[in-house]
Amino acid sequence: MNRRKSLADRIVQNRVWKSVFRQGYPNTAENQSKVVVNSWFLHIHPVKVRRHTLKITYTFGLGVISFFLFVVLVVTGAWLMLFHVPSVERAYGSIQGLETDVPFGILMRSMHRWAAHLMVLTVFLHLCRVFFTGGYKRPREFNWVIGVVLWVTTLLLSYTGYLLPWDQLSYWAVTVGTNMVGSFPGIGEIMRMALLGAKEVGQPTLTRFYALHIAILPLVMTILIGVHFWRIRKDGGLSAPGEKSSGERTEGS
Ligand code: HEM
Repeated sequence: MNRRKSLADRIVQNRVWKSVFRQGYPNTAENQSKVVVNSWFLHIHPVKVRRHTLKITYTFGLGVISFFLFVVLVVTGAWLMLFHVPSVERAYGSIQGLETDVPFGILMRSMHRWAAHLMVLTVFLHLCRVFFTGGYKRPREFNWVIGVVLWVTTLLLSYTGYLLPWDQLSYWAVTVGTNMVGSFPGIGEIMRMALLGAKEVGQPTLTRFYALHIAILPLVMTILIGVHFWRIRKDGGLSAPGEKSSGERTEGS
């Protein structure tokens, strides 16, 4: 015990520790709170959590898994960008070259694809979990709405990514999808033209989908996930079974 204490003392006296964490070793309730409040990396966590939220069967970790998959997608996607050429003449060949000539090309492409499919699944299951545990009720309605936008953004990211290899499958999937948008009463044709950037699927479409897929939608997603996490904390942590629906903040906010 004494040995542990002296090690703890030595750590907190260390100048590097002090410069990063700015408070004592987290072996007292006060210091544990300070670690969370003072650290940029940890401040997203509440100082206290309710016991039931730690049970794996309450959330199944679906939100965290979705976030992890998003990180995998960003990392593998950034790597794929080094090889993919967003031009109708070269996109298909660049993906073929990636698979045959680039070390770990198939692995990285497959990781990106699988993570995308899995993310659609986990985000949907997370949405269902939140619904069935009543997590959408007051004071969490706003975060539910943020969640719905996250769900739509997840689908849009999948859809826009589909066109980028420029193979037959992606070409016709986007043709069918944008025709469906075009059949919407009134503004359908305007929306179809806005998506395609021309009368039919072509270079302007690829450029638009590329910009949406690699910059606009990931940025929107990152901002929304930030707001989503911040709101979980501000709404008093996760919902509790039998919790009264109220607008007031509860513990942990
Ligand atoms: C990119 C997609 C998403 C990510 C990364 C994400 C992440 C998270 C995380 C980490 C939590 C903490 C609890 C848990 O792990 O289940 C959470 C809670 C929550 N999420 Fe999401 N989420 C996403 C999409 C959604 C969607 C689609 C909805 C609903 C339409 C939603 C609504 C909520 C609500 C209301 C809570 C609080 C639930 C409670 O208090 O029980 N989220 N989210």
